[in-house]
Amino acid sequence: MAFDKQITIPEGYTFRPLEKTDYHNNYLDVLRVLTEVGEISESKFNELFDYWKSLSDIFHPHVITNKSGKIVAVGMVLFERKMIHECSIYAHIEDIAVAESEQGNKLGYSMIVGLTNVAKEGGCYKIILDCDPKNIGFYEKCGYTNGGNEMFLKFNA
Ligand code: ACO
Repeated sequence: MAFDKQITIPEGYTFRPLEKTDYHNNYLDVLRVLTEVGEISESKFNELFDYWKSLSDIFHPHVITNKSGKIVAVGMVLFERKMIHECSIYAHIEDIAVAESEQGNKLGYSMIVGLTNVAKEGGCYKIILDCDPKNIGFYEKCGYTNGGNEMFLKFNA
């Protein structure tokens, strides 16, 4: 399917890859809008950042910053190289969150369009994401189609 949406990010905001210094720049607090994050020390953050960086053909964590450079939205797109469809690449969008004070300002939309274009430019065949039913309308506004059901199993729940 053609995807021709461009980021219409509000003036003064910037869509960019996550940086190591973002540990001190509201990244974890914005993630906490989505779910429980727990306590992450700077060394744990750095270790995971370095792991993502070492697999930079798979992990593409991004943020949106405001005029002051402070992170106000976060998101991740991962590339999964498959055997099917002649070794195609599927993208997965994960862990999208916008700071509560900034919701409704098209930053979620800008994040999804930005990550979708990262996947498109990376040669992906398809993008998949799971979401709560209350967010289906949001993803439809971003150009996505409701494709069915999510199944899950939790360890140690
Ligand atoms: N249902 C229907 N429409 C919505 C919803 C919703 N829940 N949220 C926003 N919209 C609409 C807006 O009204 C807007 O419509 P318009 O273009 O006609 O004006 C359009 O979608 C774009 O909205 P944004 O302003 O970009 O939305 P926002 O910046 O508030 O981001 C988000 C939406 C990401 C859901 C935000 O509210 C958020 O962080 N929520 C808490 C965390 C969360 O649920 N994250 C998604 C998890 S799913 C995953 O990670 C794959």
